[in-house]
Amino acid sequence: MCGIVGYIGKNKIKDILLEGLAELEYRGYDSAGIAVLQDENFSIYKAVGKLENLRNKTQDFHPEGFAIGIGHTRWATHGKPTELNAHPHIGSNSYVVHNGIIENYQELKASLIKEGFNFVSQTDTEVIVHLFESKLTKLNDPVKAFRATLDELQGAYAVLLITACSPETIFFAKHGSPMLIGLNGDEKYFASSDTPIIGLAKEAIYLEDGENGYLDATSTHLFNEKYEPVKEQTKALATSKLSAQKDGYRFFMEKEIYEQTHVISDTLMGRLGEAEINFEELDPELFLGINEIKLCACGTSYHSALAASYLFERYSKIRCSVEIASEFRYKEPLMCKDTLFVVISQSGETADTLETLKMAKRAGLKSLVICNVDNSSMVREADASILTRAGIEKGVASTKAFATQMVVFWMLSLYLAKQRKTLTSIELAKHVSLLREVPSTVVVKDELHEKLRRLSKRYLHGHGFFFIGRDVFFPLALEGALKLKEISYLHAEGYPSGEMKHGPIALADPELFTIALMPTNLLYEKTKSNVEELSARDSTICAISAREFDKADDFIKIEERSHYMHEFFEMMVVLQVLSLEISVRLGNDVDMPRNLAKSVTVE
Ligand code: F6R
Repeated sequence: MCGIVGYIGKNKIKDILLEGLAELEYRGYDSAGIAVLQDENFSIYKAVGKLENLRNKTQDFHPEGFAIGIGHTRWATHGKPTELNAHPHIGSNSYVVHNGIIENYQELKASLIKEGFNFVSQTDTEVIVHLFESKLTKLNDPVKAFRATLDELQGAYAVLLITACSPETIFFAKHGSPMLIGLNGDEKYFASSDTPIIGLAKEAIYLEDGENGYLDATSTHLFNEKYEPVKEQTKALATSKLSAQKDGYRFFMEKEIYEQTHVISDTLMGRLGEAEINFEELDPELFLGINEIKLCACGTSYHSALAASYLFERYSKIRCSVEIASEFRYKEPLMCKDTLFVVISQSGETADTLETLKMAKRAGLKSLVICNVDNSSMVREADASILTRAGIEKGVASTKAFATQMVVFWMLSLYLAKQRKTLTSIELAKHVSLLREVPSTVVVKDELHEKLRRLSKRYLHGHGFFFIGRDVFFPLALEGALKLKEISYLHAEGYPSGEMKHGPIALADPELFTIALMPTNLLYEKTKSNVEELSARDSTICAISAREFDKADDFIKIEERSHYMHEFFEMMVVLQVLSLEISVRLGNDVDMPRNLAKSVTVE
C-alpha cells in the first residue's frame, strides 16, 4: 500500500527521501516519486516500477544544503500505475503526496475543471493540490488555504503538501491513514510508519485522526480538526533497524519463517507462570461481565482468529464468533455490551479492521487488539492491547505474525480459562509446559527444507490445490492455501476435510492436488476417511502427518508429538516453506508478490 516520507533539513535530502521510501517498499507499490524544494526551485522525479528506476532517474540530482521534500510509493487505486498517476502531484506551484482515498474527488474535480484547472492524472489525489491552489488564490494565505482544502475533503487520508509561497514549510494532515513526525533538532521527518525514521530521529509525534498543521525547521504547529492548537505528545522511537535486514537469507519471507522460533520465545517471555498466564498489560477487569468474545480481522489475521475460536470455546468455555472485518462493517451487526470485541492485526492499520474497532467502541463494547505494531492506530484506539512481538515483518506474505498471533491466542484462552475456572491447575500447568516447547516445534530442519524444495517441483501446475483439515487445522488449511496463492499465483482453496463430499470433491482428479493436514492427536481417523475419499477419486495427495499414510502420493513426515497444537505449529512451518519453494521455482517475487500490499489502509 502507499507510503509517504517527508524531510526538512540540511542533510542529504535525496538520500533521506529515497532511503525512507526503500524502508516502505515491503508494503507493496507500483510507482514512486519525490519532490524537493530548494531556493524556491522544485525538482521532481517519478518512475514506474521498482525504486531502482527512480534512483536511476535521480542520478544527476545532488541537492546540497537546506531543502524540504516529500516522497511517495504508490499502490494504484484510482488510475493505472503510470508516471502521470505517480505522486507527488503537481499544481502550478505546489506538490502533494497522499495515502488513502478521497471519496468525493469526482465532485471536486468537476468543479475545479469548471474553475479552469487542468488535470493530468486519473487519481483522486490530484484534486488536493488544485483545490489548495484555488483556495490560495482566493485567501492569499497558505495556512488558510490548506485548512479550507481539508474542510472539503471526504474520505481517509494522510497528506503532505509543499508550496513555493511558503518554501520552508511542509503542510500535513491525518484523517484515517497513519502518519508520524520524527524530530531531531532542526531536522524534521515525516513518514507513514516509523521504519523510515528509525535511526534518524529519536522521538516522534504520532498524529491522531483529524490532526493537521505545518512545520518548518524551527517550529511545529499542530492543530485538531477544529484547528485549535494541540500540545504535541512525543514518544521515543526504536533505535535499531537490525531486525529488518535479510541476514543472509534469500528472502525476507524465508528469514521470517526461520526466525519464528526466536520471536515465539519473545512472545512467551515473561508471560508464562507455573500454572497460569500473565499478561501484565491486561487489567483483569477487562473480562468482567463478558459472556462472549467476537474476533474480527482480515486475511491471515482472520485465519488466526478462526483457529482461536476453537481454543476459546474448548478451554475458556466462552462463546466465540469470528467476523471478516470488511463484511462486518456493513452488515448492520447487533452488538451486545457483554461481548468483548477483539481485533487482530499484524500492522494495526488495516482500514476495515480499524473501522470495526471504532464501530464496536461507538456501540459501547469493551475492546482488545492483538497487534504486532506498538503505537499503531488500533493499539491507540482499543481499550487494551497485547503485542505479538514478532518484530518488523517485511515479507508481504505473513508468516511470523501469524505464528505469534496463534501463541498469544493460546495463552489468552488459558488466561481466561484460569479466570473462569474452566481448566484445573494441573491442566493449566500442562498447557504452560506445552507452550514452553512451541519454539522448538517451529525450528526449520535442513532435511525438511531440502525435502520440501525437492517436492516443490511436482506442484507447479495442475488445476488447483485443496488444503484440508479439521478443527484448528481447518483455519491452518485456509492459511496454507492463502500463502500458496499469494506467492505462487496458483489457485488454492482451504476446506474443512468433512466438507469435501458436499461439493468440492467433484473436482477430484489427478491434476487436483490435495494437501492433507493429518494430526495424530486430533480427529485422525475422521480426517483419514476424508482423505481416503479423495484418494479413491484419484486426487493427487500430499499428506502431512507424523503417521505414515499409504494412500498418499507424497508424504511429509512431522515429529511424533503429544499435543495437537505442537502438530499445528510444525505443519504451519511445512506449509510456509512449501509455498516459498514453489514460488521460487516459478520465478516469482517472493517478498513482493504482484498486486499485493503489506498494509491495506484503504477499504
Ligand atoms: C497475507 C496477509 C494479509 C494480511 C491482511 C490483514 O499473508 O498478510 O492477508 O493478513 O491484509 O493485515 P493485518 O494483519 O496487518 O491487519
